[in-house]
Amino acid sequence: MSQSDLEKQALALQQRAYAPYSKFRVGAAVRADGRVFEGANVENASYGLAICAERTAMFAAVLAGCRQLEEVVVCTDVSPPSSPCGACRQVLAEFATDPARVTVTAINGKGERRSWTLAQLLPDSFSGRELP
Ligand code: THU
Repeated sequence: MSQSDLEKQALALQQRAYAPYSKFRVGAAVRADGRVFEGANVENASYGLAICAERTAMFAAVLAGCRQLEEVVVCTDVSPPSSPCGACRQVLAEFATDPARVTVTAINGKGERRSWTLAQLLPDSFSGRELP
């Protein structure tokens, strides 16, 4: 299967990661409301302040007014391709009207690919509907 445009963007975005501490560069591209938003991980000398690629991309979408998440691609250097962390799964789920219809694809530069739905990655999620 050839690379989708979103996959090509996630691969390119990896180069924009700021990861001098972990050396684990992550690029992410999300499609929301039909538009593509860019993300990469951004670390800090105060390690706990790092933010993941998936969240920078999702927050860029929200800031642009695009809250309906449709698709996510995340790119790392590892094999097999690494899936989004738990915190990012929760943030992505916030903006997924139907998590079973949001595809999350993990890729690497070698052309390897793994895919899930967001519902598979975060079953029985906390949706906020439980809140008073
Ligand atoms: N990271 C991401 O960008 N996405 C993930 O889903 C997992 C981890 C980043 C955070 C940190 O900069 C580095 O990878 C190592 O944890």
